[in-house]
Amino acid sequence: MTDLYPVNPAFAKQALVDQAGYEAAYRESIEQPEAFWAKAAQRLEWFKQPTQIKDVSYALEDFRIKWFADGELNASVNCLDRQLAERGDKVALLFEPDSPDTPSYGVTYRELHERVCKLGNALRNLGVKKGDRVTIYLPMIPDAAVAMLACARIGAVHSVVFGGFAANSIADRVSDCGSKLIITADEGLRGGKKVPLKHNVDAALKLPGTNTVETVLVVRHTGGAVDMQAPRDRWFHDVVDGQPAECEPERMNAEDPLFILYTSGSTGKPKGVLHTTAGYLLWAAYTHEVVFDLKEDDIYWCTADVGWVTGHSYIVYGPLANGATALVFEGVPNYPDVSRFWQVVDKHKVSIFYTAPTAIRALMREGDGPVKQTSRASLRVLGTVGEPINPEAWRWYYEVVGDSRCPIVDTWWQTETGGHLITPLPGATALKPGSATVPFFGVQPALVDANGAELEGAAEGNLVIKDSWPGQMRTVYGDHQRFIDTYFRTYPGSYFTGDGCRRDEDGYYWITGRVDDVINVSGHRIGTAEVESALVSHPKVAEAAVVGFPHDIKGQGIYAYVTLVAGEEQSEALLKELVAHVRKEIGPIASPDHLQWAPGLPKTRSGKIMRRILRKIAENAPDQLGDTSTLADPSVVDSLVSERKVK
Ligand code: WTA
Repeated sequence: MTDLYPVNPAFAKQALVDQAGYEAAYRESIEQPEAFWAKAAQRLEWFKQPTQIKDVSYALEDFRIKWFADGELNASVNCLDRQLAERGDKVALLFEPDSPDTPSYGVTYRELHERVCKLGNALRNLGVKKGDRVTIYLPMIPDAAVAMLACARIGAVHSVVFGGFAANSIADRVSDCGSKLIITADEGLRGGKKVPLKHNVDAALKLPGTNTVETVLVVRHTGGAVDMQAPRDRWFHDVVDGQPAECEPERMNAEDPLFILYTSGSTGKPKGVLHTTAGYLLWAAYTHEVVFDLKEDDIYWCTADVGWVTGHSYIVYGPLANGATALVFEGVPNYPDVSRFWQVVDKHKVSIFYTAPTAIRALMREGDGPVKQTSRASLRVLGTVGEPINPEAWRWYYEVVGDSRCPIVDTWWQTETGGHLITPLPGATALKPGSATVPFFGVQPALVDANGAELEGAAEGNLVIKDSWPGQMRTVYGDHQRFIDTYFRTYPGSYFTGDGCRRDEDGYYWITGRVDDVINVSGHRIGTAEVESALVSHPKVAEAAVVGFPHDIKGQGIYAYVTLVAGEEQSEALLKELVAHVRKEIGPIASPDHLQWAPGLPKTRSGKIMRRILRKIAENAPDQLGDTSTLADPSVVDSLVSERKVK
């Protein structure tokens, strides 16, 4: 029997949505989607109200996803201008720097509006027009939100690249979408260490395919020395500070693109997930308010980076569209020590706290002491995102961090979904540790078996979503066919999530993890194919196969099998060199945790690598290899098993 944590009646009483409210709204959202979403759309401010609400077909021959198709609006107006009358002096972004010794400060809605307008004007002067792509490669500083919103203001499509990605990854993303301009900073700071952002951009722009970039705007953040190459590179403050403080917002159609965000899939290079304006913004705002039970005076903190979708939806667009105060944290959980999170909570009286299971597991390992030395009395809602949370970590989060007082919302969603799809509502849903619980309004999850047959009742299978929701991605940038093939061809009529899932007897959903070749490392998606191609790009590597394996802190770790070019010697030094090579090619987040030399890889007679077997060897479960009779050379497996060693 699993534990059940019933809704606290006192919490339910003050909550935006209680159990009866959830049930009624969910029913209406499914039975009368047009009416439901027409009403929900009223939470946005429109230049032109939509009269067409939903126009969706998942049929492969007649495929379309459109929401609010004749509406017109601007996302930055919704996040800024709309707040000025009542919340002009309210802090929109509360900045907490990497070091606790550097002063924190707040940026009010009025100030944020002004900064966004100035940058919007500067971008227009630099020739950026509606529909142009702008790459943003910034640390976790308020300018990151300013940059995103300035793009939104003038109708440019932003593509934020996580600051932990290396030059090659930046170049791939710049060239795929043909960015005209990059906004970066001299350096970032993380845990006292400097991240050479401008230097990485310089290296990226030397790589092929990046010559669409005309201008690089550089925010002076640490003051570290950087090369400025005229006329391409311009200091942000030189170009922006003197601009007028008003900037006419572009009238955007509901279905005009808002941003592209690259994410890993099972094959090939990362794909540019494209979100459009109205549906995405509505989804981010609506879920942010209801899932976190947001109130006017909340201090809300999401510890994600704006380089990931969580930062887009739940640091920038959702909170600002709701007029919330969102904390922007530049640092890391263990700097200067492992109680930093809780010190920041106390310092700013954070009431809603949203983080990843990997951070919880890492902090749990440090014991209760660093938590208990802080008060955390301001907290009222806790959240998790990015990967399944093990019940043990859930309970620690609940009992130690939240003093058994705060509901935990375990929010399941994806870059593709724009925002939460399966999640508790804190005043409505009884919680079960480890379960993302029940669907949000308008979301119809289903489980299917390998043949696509829908499973009823308590069951385990692949998770699909029937029908559309407004926050859904609309295409893979530049490759609409890949969008359709990836998500809608496997189980015709449904969106395939790539996740496995169990549904229990109460109808609660338990995500079991990816069923494709995507690894979830510390809540970050990494495609095995990307790591393999980085390894194979090393001149001494003939072949590589990469799989995920269970990792205590990261959830999953990266396990690489490497076959060297004939004549090359295996050595500790080469092993280190290959790990460093992957970091250089993709970025530190893709560093293999284990690397095993493989004289040969298990392949079928047709040459297909049998990853199932490699996964079992990586898990150190050689007794579960299953059927190996289809292998071209079964002896390969024996040698891998006997040589499996932990680095
Ligand atoms: C996983 C992050 C279990 C899942 C928002 C999904 C989760 C992938 C949860 C998307 C959760 C995310 N419980 N698994 N609460 N949230 N995932 O695109 O495998 O970076 O498919 O979006 O993370 O990762 P992405």
